[in-house]
Amino acid sequence: RPMSRLIIVSNRVQPPSGEGGGNQGGLAVALSAALRESSGIWFGWSGETVDEFTGKIDFQRNFGVTTATIDLEPQDLDEYYNGYANRTLWPLFHYRVDLAEFESGFAEGYERVNQRFADTLEPLIETDDLVWIHDYHMFPLGARLRQKGIRNRIGFFLHIPWPPYRLLLSLPNHRELVETLLAYDVVGFQTRDALECFHDYVRNELSGAIDGDRVTVGDRTITAIACPIGIDAENFVEASQSSAARYAHYRMRQSTNGRDMIIGVDRLDYSKGLEERFLGYERYLSSNAGQHGEVFLLQIAPPSRGDVQSYQEIRSSLDALSGRINGAFADVEWVPIRYVNRGYPRDKLAGIYRAAKIGLVTPLRDGMNLVAKEYIAAQDPEDPGVLILSRFAGAAEQLTDALLINPHSPEDICDAIAQALAMPLEERQARWRACMDNVMSQDVVWWRKRFTDALEGTAAAAAA
Ligand code: G6P
Repeated sequence: RPMSRLIIVSNRVQPPSGEGGGNQGGLAVALSAALRESSGIWFGWSGETVDEFTGKIDFQRNFGVTTATIDLEPQDLDEYYNGYANRTLWPLFHYRVDLAEFESGFAEGYERVNQRFADTLEPLIETDDLVWIHDYHMFPLGARLRQKGIRNRIGFFLHIPWPPYRLLLSLPNHRELVETLLAYDVVGFQTRDALECFHDYVRNELSGAIDGDRVTVGDRTITAIACPIGIDAENFVEASQSSAARYAHYRMRQSTNGRDMIIGVDRLDYSKGLEERFLGYERYLSSNAGQHGEVFLLQIAPPSRGDVQSYQEIRSSLDALSGRINGAFADVEWVPIRYVNRGYPRDKLAGIYRAAKIGLVTPLRDGMNLVAKEYIAAQDPEDPGVLILSRFAGAAEQLTDALLINPHSPEDICDAIAQALAMPLEERQARWRACMDNVMSQDVVWWRKRFTDALEGTAAAAAA
């Protein structure tokens, strides 16, 4: 059967840049491949604003991938992106109801922008297309497309966690939001945990019924699955052997000067447990005076969503905390934390990961966390480093042979660092091998196929 044309929709659109995948994220690499094969379209926001919304679509073709983007208004940016998506849904879905802001203007802007996406996308959809919508920016888009008469198969994948149902009740109009999911044929979550939280909501708030992968509310039945996203593993292993990676690795080894390096790489976000990570590492330094000068933490944290106050606050907290720890422990020849507020291309990162004895991944909540998987993929099989992973990252459901920790506990982080640095080679190899098997087999192509197979397997609404 010929592949249906795929239409991918996400807030951010990342076309191939032609730098050998250097700057394109793994997800973008994998989706680009699928789009190329099916002559599909990647639709979303251009990242730009114009004073007055026109609905004009900017089509571009880069390395065989067609993108279609629209500009939004400054007010859309405030209410939809900075507002409802990143001040309301993001904190709430990461269990931070304390940070969630509930402003009716945000919800209105979110609805308006989703309607704008629906209005501009609708004319591009052809009869047999599969429409695949991504992430929390776009929950209602499927429902808006249905209202315009679109009967294609439409799937939705949530990249972030789904909160426990009692937490979700704090969202005004939670019911309207969740009900929009019933417009999809397939809804995918990162983990069993997220899927179960969704089931709880459906049972308790919508009086729905669960039967295996099927969720029924009233006379509507949809498919809801756990479908954990992976990395483009083969490509990443290749990237880790590229000359850019080998050079980065060599430079890093020079710069570590025989010291053990611990690596953290995260968007600067309060969900990532960066303060907890620094405090756990500080605990390690306080209780292992003999290790001063022997180990350091390289934390790469590119700033993100800087217009949102909670992000400004986490940034200044981390500035203060890294400064305090460095001030307290450093000597003239050694700084315990190298704290870097910028991003690096993938191949360079791969080389840096490989030079690190420990990958330290401590989110308080994370949909998946692909850094954990990239760290594994970049290791030297003969002499692999150790992954320390928060049990609250989605990846912990798969990477069960990592050292799983509770990031709220500085002792847990401290003990895991000590354990990892002392771990015998055989144990390191065995743990790494088990993690690597999962990273390779459940990679991003597996994920994409699992989701699109589920979507193609559902009867098109058009048949009705
Ligand atoms: C998370 C979200 C993505 C988002 C990314 C970067 O991974 O799940 O949807 O694109 O963060 O955040 P930003 O706000 O810069 O797009």
